[in-house]
Amino acid sequence: MADANLEDLPGVGAKTAEKLKDAGYDTLMSIATMSAADLSEVADLGSKTANKIIIAARKELDLGFQTGSDKLEERKSMAKISLSSENFNDLLDGGVETQSITEFYGEFGSAKTQCALQLAVNCQLPEEDGGLDKGVVFIDTEDTFIPERVEQMAEGAGLDPEEVLDNIFVARAYNSDHQILLAEKAQDIIKKNDIGLIVVDSLTAQFRSDYVGRGQLAERQQKLNKHMHTLQRLANTFNTAVVVTNQVMSNPGQLFGDPTSAIGGHIVGHASAFRIYLRKSKKDKRIARLVDCPYLPEGEAVFRVTENGLEDA
Ligand code: GTP
Ligand code: MG
Repeated sequence: MADANLEDLPGVGAKTAEKLKDAGYDTLMSIATMSAADLSEVADLGSKTANKIIIAARKELDLGFQTGSDKLEERKSMAKISLSSENFNDLLDGGVETQSITEFYGEFGSAKTQCALQLAVNCQLPEEDGGLDKGVVFIDTEDTFIPERVEQMAEGAGLDPEEVLDNIFVARAYNSDHQILLAEKAQDIIKKNDIGLIVVDSLTAQFRSDYVGRGQLAERQQKLNKHMHTLQRLANTFNTAVVVTNQVMSNPGQLFGDPTSAIGGHIVGHASAFRIYLRKSKKDKRIARLVDCPYLPEGEAVFRVTENGLEDA
């Protein structure tokens, strides 16, 4: 984004920004094209921090090219959030990744929201317990963020329920434009608070009701595409995980024939690195299927939704 400020880069506080500006480095482009050695000298920073800032500036500008070592550095900082079920974690090779968008889709009651809430709790666990020890931004579009349920899950995870709720920044989106705006504004909260996860539950519900009918499909897809880009940029810039939920088409006559295809079609599908199809099984059991992930084997995991949250079946 060309309109981003130096202070928007992770690791750049007011003081550092001041030093950089004094030295003539007052645009993202000037930072993006610096060497780490120069930056660390000019702004009096460690080389690791300098490197991180340069990578973030390049990302912000979307210069397109990255060196192999940038890429390696980025992969090294990638972390995972546990889903509280060994089966489920195995399916995802450890859990939900930072720097990527993970989409949970399925019909009503398939446990999309339960997965999102569990991740919002688990993100706050210490790293050795499968968390990031960080807070959460939760964009709630259907008014299904239930604090009491979060408290239950927090207790189940051995965390202090009050603290867990204090570390989740919830915003209710009233329509799709509001939802887009909230994602764009999330940057401010992410910068001020150590945020490891951004949830959008549901990604598509507001779009679905705001853009009705075939005539508005193109516009809807365009807006959705932009929204996904905003989320991906946040994921990259701040090393956060992004989790979105998505309903499936219930009416086969509508737009697509496959009754299990997710709303938003290829726009959402392409933007999500991990797509998890959830379906109901007997009683509290749910089945998660990993769908076309380029580097993990396709497979399924069975888990349960209990009082404590997600558990192995
Ligand atoms: P929609 O948003 O309606 O499309 O559904 P969803 O996929 O988000 O389903 P959600 O995650 O809300 O619920 C899935 C299931 O979790 C429910 O059908 C319940 O069986 C279970 N569940 C939800 N809340 C609780 C709870 O507080 N305790 C227990 N034990 N189970 C719950
Ligand atoms: Mg839900």
